[in-house]
Amino acid sequence: MVFRKLFGASTPAPSPAAADSPASDAESQSPASEDAGQDADFEDAERFGDAEEMDRPDWGARAAAVLPTGASTGSKRPSALHGEGGEGPLHFVRASGCHVTDTDGQTFVDCTMALGAVALGYAEKRVLAAAVDAASRGNVAALSPVEEVEVAERLCDLVPCAEQVLFMKTGAEAVSAAVRLARTYTGRDVVIASGYFGWHDWASDAEGVPAAVRGDVVRIPFDDIPALEAAVARAGARLAAIVLEPVVERMPSAAWVQRARACCDAAGSILIVDEIKTGFRLRPAGYQELSGITPDLATFGKAMSNGFPLSAVLGQRDVMQAMRRTWISSTLASDSVALAAAGAVLDWHVEADVCATLAETGAEIRSRVDAAREASRCSGVRIAGEDPMWLMKWDDPADESLFISAALHAGALFKRGAYNYAAIAHDAAAIDVIERAASEGFIAVRDSAARRG
Ligand SMILES: Cc1ncc(COP(=O)(O)O)c(C=O)c1O
Repeated sequence: MVFRKLFGASTPAPSPAAADSPASDAESQSPASEDAGQDADFEDAERFGDAEEMDRPDWGARAAAVLPTGASTGSKRPSALHGEGGEGPLHFVRASGCHVTDTDGQTFVDCTMALGAVALGYAEKRVLAAAVDAASRGNVAALSPVEEVEVAERLCDLVPCAEQVLFMKTGAEAVSAAVRLARTYTGRDVVIASGYFGWHDWASDAEGVPAAVRGDVVRIPFDDIPALEAAVARAGARLAAIVLEPVVERMPSAAWVQRARACCDAAGSILIVDEIKTGFRLRPAGYQELSGITPDLATFGKAMSNGFPLSAVLGQRDVMQAMRRTWISSTLASDSVALAAAGAVLDWHVEADVCATLAETGAEIRSRVDAAREASRCSGVRIAGEDPMWLMKWDDPADESLFISAALHAGALFKRGAYNYAAIAHDAAAIDVIERAASEGFIAVRDSAARRG
């Protein structure tokens, strides 16, 4: 099941009991077989028990002393990983395929895949080789690297809305740049937004953001056509852009995105679709490829470079040319390591139907987790999301924390309150571990509820 799509339709589909293992593909030269080699290498991870890091045990306390929230990435804070007051591993010493080894030398199967930044697998050999090669030639210099041009050309060939490309490092940067381009192009201020776009001021309701910055950003709910139309009517001739995160736990109605497209056309405004999660996951070109609805600008990141820091704004030439009238620049935006990684990811997508495999693998993981839930008769939780990016919705956060902790003891880490992401590296053995771990988690929650009466 996991690797079938990668080897073409002629490969017979295995029965669930005899699902593909990477070893069965070992003769092939496709990227999948390189991944199989990667899992073999992972045996080394067990040796991390003697690593120097192990002699300095309390990484959590050390982190809390020098990092204001214990982790620079919000979703990797202790409370985000394990729940308020929950305990569990916080730092890793090695990640390979879908396996992570923590500072105690414990190895588990990762369902979070670095918040969806990694869709192939950690330290995937081909991506790694491209990145190391780029690094060895000097990742930055006085001039732009050739990889910037090559990857931009390939993205323009692949993504329907793309005639030109601007590279950045983070998703937040890319969406902020797209909004800036839309405002520059239209000479207008108001932005209608639905979704999560990162931490930058224009997209945030957090403390520390001046009210004036929020003033021209109108938030609307996901997939709500009347709310969209009302916001467009209120914005009138001041509407610069509509920015949509296209998939939030489920696909939107096509009518919602089509309506946004039509409103932008009527008002002379810019439709921005944020493909940071959906790009190179649902389809290589993301939601726009799936829906056939082409935005003016789109943003990509995460799976585009399999965990190397890279994001991009892609769009129609005349809108992208607004770059010449404003100022958007970042010192390391064109570092060749992340661009080379993206080039290797693009190679993967040429050689194999990666997105189909992610969907199949995600469907298998989801259904096995759901079967474990049903068998355990655990209540207060349901499985939601799309197959390549699915999540558990718990009624009680305490139950969720208990589930995460019990599942982790049984060998798999699930994401609290957000997506679990399927990866090419989730092979049959890993999926078995995930199912067993989910089962242990659900049973722990069920038994705890029974004890409470
Ligand atoms: C749809 C979307 N846009 C933007 C971002 C922000 O990306 P980053 O965290 O890389 O800044 C995210 C991050 O999860 C995202 O999911």
